[in-house]
Amino acid sequence: MAGKIPEQFIDDLLNRVDVVDVINRRVPLKKAGRDYQARCPFHDEKTPSFTVSPQKQFYHCFGCGAHGSAIGFLMEYDNLGFVEAVEELAHGVGLEVPREAGFEHGPDLRPLYQLMEEADRFYRHQLKHHPDAKQAVDYLKTRGLSGEIAAAFAIGYAPPGWNNLLGSLGRDKTAIARLDECGLTHEGEGKGYDRFRNRIIFPIRDRRGRTIGFGGRTIGDEKPKYLNSPETPLFHKGRELYGLHEAQKANHKIARLLVVEGYMDVVALAQHGILNAVATLGTATTQDHLELIFRICPEVVFCFDGDRAGRDAAWKALLTSLPLMRDGREVKFLFLPQGEDPDTQVRKEGSDAFSDRIEQAQPLSKFLFHRLTDQVEMDSIDGRARLAQLATPLLEKLPAGVFRRMMFQHLETLVGIKDGRLDKGASQHRQPGTGRDRQPGKLQRATPVRMAIALLLDNPHLLGVAESVDRAWQAWDAPGISILKQLLEIIRSQPTLNKAALLERWRDTEHFTHLNKLANYRFDLPDMDQEAELRDALLKLNAQFHKNSRPQPGNLPPSELSDELLNELKQRFPGTTGQDEQ
Ligand code: UTP
Ligand code: MN
Repeated sequence: MAGKIPEQFIDDLLNRVDVVDVINRRVPLKKAGRDYQARCPFHDEKTPSFTVSPQKQFYHCFGCGAHGSAIGFLMEYDNLGFVEAVEELAHGVGLEVPREAGFEHGPDLRPLYQLMEEADRFYRHQLKHHPDAKQAVDYLKTRGLSGEIAAAFAIGYAPPGWNNLLGSLGRDKTAIARLDECGLTHEGEGKGYDRFRNRIIFPIRDRRGRTIGFGGRTIGDEKPKYLNSPETPLFHKGRELYGLHEAQKANHKIARLLVVEGYMDVVALAQHGILNAVATLGTATTQDHLELIFRICPEVVFCFDGDRAGRDAAWKALLTSLPLMRDGREVKFLFLPQGEDPDTQVRKEGSDAFSDRIEQAQPLSKFLFHRLTDQVEMDSIDGRARLAQLATPLLEKLPAGVFRRMMFQHLETLVGIKDGRLDKGASQHRQPGTGRDRQPGKLQRATPVRMAIALLLDNPHLLGVAESVDRAWQAWDAPGISILKQLLEIIRSQPTLNKAALLERWRDTEHFTHLNKLANYRFDLPDMDQEAELRDALLKLNAQFHKNSRPQPGNLPPSELSDELLNELKQRFPGTTGQDEQ
């Protein structure tokens, strides 16, 4: 699918973004010589073996073998697809992602976004100018909202009547159909009508601030109290959080996000200067919601009513969170007094007291163990065995890491077992997204063609060296050779591409996995003469070509490598010559 986005753009993008910057925003890096280091976010380690090279625009972990470009990092760390990762990076440097003409890439959503924007303006205009708007304004005042906050959240008003929005924006057949597609009107018999009538309107905006849906609250007692946009091509409520855009606008950097239940909770908290609340839209929190949050900050505080329903909802949120509890992420629970929600509570006690509650929120570990120990008799063996039975399947949902180990340790302490056997998955459990191909032990044997490719990926500036060697090998018709030729051609035409950009050229081809493995070789060891290695590899290729009429580079026996080189490789890349570790 990379074909949808022009190659040239990917080159530009990888030139423009800095992988150090991209990673540093998620995993704080320390400078170490020419490179940067951190403890690897993809596996559990005590000393940093995760290295980022600004020069190559590439990251690499000596421990687990994770490696890639800024695009690859976002795909792995933020769980994004390729296109999403490119869009995220582009957005960060203020670029629009262009699309190549003639490719199928789904319907053009721009007219729908534009229409939502117009509807948004329409509702805001009504709040200011409609003859009946006074009751809406009064209502907002009784709920304690100032004009500034109403403006910050772009709150609007859908006047009473069936034909306000439709009459104003439904200019022609196309517009009418689009209003319906956006969920703003209902298709009636022959004539449609407005979905939102006589309601306060809360626009729901995506992370970039585009309006993608609306929530409407009654001013009187009509049912339902809240009406939300239906699922549309722009709006998927399981993936969107109300208030996220506003929170991001209000905070330069968000340290934690508060998840509340209602629109009014978000807005009332903002009114009291608590600017980091978001709301799910009448649904339980989904994994998509949490992933979205964790892309922005490492800590979530779920805020619920302290009653039974609130505790059950919190438990559900806990279960959803478990598989995402990678080390460094925190989930907490804040229970309000019975019958209160953040809106009523913050209005009652003010922002300082409310902020104290946030500070004292229960960590996930505490909530989990409290809830389970409450269900069993802790002073009997039977009860403690039951606890182990209840807790184990939950803790097994945790990804590998320090947190998981500590949770199991705590369970063992509670139960009174000391042998560490409860965590059966401990040894084989890996962090999510830790692919097989990234273990150093899986590196392929270093044949000359592989060496040449890997060296050139790492050192495109050695093009001249490559070209100084006789090109007889180029006539050889073998898979590796064609990649090497292609690589030289790309470097020749664009000598400034870095390793990251070079690799992206192959992302959607059958060779990507293979090349990606080669990209994992390390050549920047101080005593290694990379020029000589490259020349040597190409000379060997020529020799093989001359010796063999139709040799197969992929199947060359180890003896094709000089003993010298083999030994050297064994020393430098322990594990590259066969045995797997795990
Ligand atoms: P609540 O019923 O707790 O309302 O719904 P609230 O947020 O406290 O509303 P106010 O304070 O009376 O204005 C919480 C959330 O559940 C969804 C909405 O997203 C709402 O914000 N909801 C609620 C609906 O979608 N439809 C409804 O009829 C009610
Ligand atoms: Mn409320």
